[in-house]
Amino acid sequence: MQNHSIVNHLFNCKYMSRYRLTAVFLFVVMFSPVRADEGMWIPLLLEQTRYRQMKELGLKLSPEDIYSINHASLKDAVVLFGGGCSGVVVSAQGLLFTNYHCGYGQVQSHSSLEHDYLTDGFWAQSAGDELPNPGLTATFLERMEDVTAEVLQRITSGMTERQRNDSIAAAVARIVKARQPAKHHRVDVKPLFGGNQYFMYVYEIFSDVRLVGAPPTAIGKFGGDTDNWIWPRHTGDFSIFRIYADKNNQPAAYSPDNVPYQPRKYAPVSIAGIREGDFTMVYGYPAATDEFITSYELDYLIRQNYPLRVALRTERLEIMERYMQADAATRIQYAAKHAGVSNAWKKWQGVIHGVQRADGVKQKIARETAFSQQIADNPQWSRDYGLLLEKMKNNVEAAALLQQASACYAESITSIELVKFAGSLLTDIPPPNQDLLKKASGFYKDFSLAVDKDIFVAMMKAYLANIPEAYHFEEMKAQLKRHKGSVEKWADEVYAKSVFRSYQALEKVLANPKSANKLIQKEPMIAIYLSGQAMLNERVYPSLRRLSQEHDSLSRVYIAAQLQADKERIFYPNANHTMRISFGQTVGYSPSDAVTYQPFTTLEGIMEKDNPDIYDYRVPQALKQAAEQKNFGQYAANGMVPVCFIASNHTSGGNSGSPVFNGNGELIGLNFDRNWEGTMSDVVYDAEQCRNIIADIRYILFIVDKVYGAQRIVGEMEVRE
Ligand code: ARG
Ligand code: GLU
Repeated sequence: MQNHSIVNHLFNCKYMSRYRLTAVFLFVVMFSPVRADEGMWIPLLLEQTRYRQMKELGLKLSPEDIYSINHASLKDAVVLFGGGCSGVVVSAQGLLFTNYHCGYGQVQSHSSLEHDYLTDGFWAQSAGDELPNPGLTATFLERMEDVTAEVLQRITSGMTERQRNDSIAAAVARIVKARQPAKHHRVDVKPLFGGNQYFMYVYEIFSDVRLVGAPPTAIGKFGGDTDNWIWPRHTGDFSIFRIYADKNNQPAAYSPDNVPYQPRKYAPVSIAGIREGDFTMVYGYPAATDEFITSYELDYLIRQNYPLRVALRTERLEIMERYMQADAATRIQYAAKHAGVSNAWKKWQGVIHGVQRADGVKQKIARETAFSQQIADNPQWSRDYGLLLEKMKNNVEAAALLQQASACYAESITSIELVKFAGSLLTDIPPPNQDLLKKASGFYKDFSLAVDKDIFVAMMKAYLANIPEAYHFEEMKAQLKRHKGSVEKWADEVYAKSVFRSYQALEKVLANPKSANKLIQKEPMIAIYLSGQAMLNERVYPSLRRLSQEHDSLSRVYIAAQLQADKERIFYPNANHTMRISFGQTVGYSPSDAVTYQPFTTLEGIMEKDNPDIYDYRVPQALKQAAEQKNFGQYAANGMVPVCFIASNHTSGGNSGSPVFNGNGELIGLNFDRNWEGTMSDVVYDAEQCRNIIADIRYILFIVDKVYGAQRIVGEMEVRE
């Protein structure tokens, strides 16, 4: 229980200093250019939430211009690209812009030694050159609707959590069934505010999406992992696709007869320029944030979970880098893997740094203290919520060791490529089939046995060192015993004998159904995989699942209580991969004493970074030439092409490729990243430090139009000067 005298003391201190703070506050409001606003807002509810503030900052559109189901609105130009990114439609013929890193897989899949689009870029010269991408979708939101009453109608206060969840699942199924999603449509119902509110989303899904253009990787990923999560930035992070439909403009599977889709709405583009202080708005699909996180969880994450994950990835990245630096072929094989491992590795470090710097745990404690005070003052709330925070604390403590075991397992054992690959084939073995061999040849193309063996040794050791024996799995114990405790000797044996050591070895075994059958019993990689899974399924997952369900229920109540206690505040629900709007201004920031960052970068910065010796900073010849000849056209400002800019929009993973609009609803750039100091914004938002990073549309069009001469693409867009 909370100690009341301490709570009162803290509360009074806060109160007493409030008068002094008022003076400071007024000063800040009057003189600070930053009027950032935390939050990812629901487009349908803009008027009740943040429309007024957006207007004050410079928004000229009406709520109906932004979201409407009665006529075309900006929402109809916003796309969920594939499963995880956002995008925007920019022409009457279904032209679509997203990030380069979002379309990277497609560009890579079309590349070969003869057509090296990664190195050279790709520009379809005619409609016939646009390249289909099986499996890729572009999804439009038709409408969203608050269905809370329908979902919760049969919930009663006496229900157990389990009954509650079953009732909700049944209601969701009823809703989806009643809406009878048409062909190429999907109906989703998703919880908001931890399950205190439910929204339904009706989507239309297009599955013929073709590649139209992409710059070389040296532009699309300029700065690579070195600059990732960092401002200042100079990345041309864009790729261009086109949505195709059938003759009736309806979604259809790929067919050569399909025609460019005519969207309800496409975004006009403004190259008129952006000044510091200008209004900006990001419209897209942020995936996950946790602003309601408790101090206990946050503390656990930044002091235990992230540091362990970071340490394991550091070891893994160092091993990859050692081999990548020594050998060009390995560099190519591991480039995408390295980028994938490094992205979260770097972000977590930024989060740890940012939360510590913003005193994030203390901020959450202050909120909990204030919350406890509010509860204490109200007898009903005391009864309902009096024990809530303590229960949440106990829950986090009870889960910590299991969380560590599960995270450590995922970062170490599962990161051994052959263990993971062997596990992924299990459902296919036997019988041997063509798909399996195809999958295998794709895997071995980008695989190095030497790298993986070193990772095996390092990761097994890390798991042993970090996780108590109760969570060591049987195969691990048995093999270590056999090898007198030497992980190296174990690795020597496994990597010499495993049929997964090479494609040829695997193919040979699979060719014969008898030996393929034996694989399951004899193969060391499979033994490791199965034994590890068995341990997780017996000793980790069941308790962890129970605790995480308990966590979710407590969290739902905690959020409900806050909404109830703080009636004046307008809350935004955590991001949950549904359509949101965030807004702010183009504005720099000061990351540390005596340092200020301007909000704009230019082509000059690219030329400054140019260095043929550093892979991430090799500027392609065509770009150098355009820069030298000052072939900037209408895309320059003050004699130089702008490249990226930052703004105070609250964004998250999934916002990659999101359109960034000005106050007129014109496209001014594509969101693609956050700044290092602001990566913690998923859990702690700091208006002074958190910035999103945007590729300026003028740089994008300059690359398309002037550097690569793809006028066909720019020609169909509505470009306003
Ligand atoms: N940090 C950005 C995001 O989370 C960009 C990632 C891709 N770029 C890279 N260098 N790995 O998606
Ligand atoms: N790069 C991230 C993505 O792929 C978006 C940036 C962010 O997390 O802020 O979604």
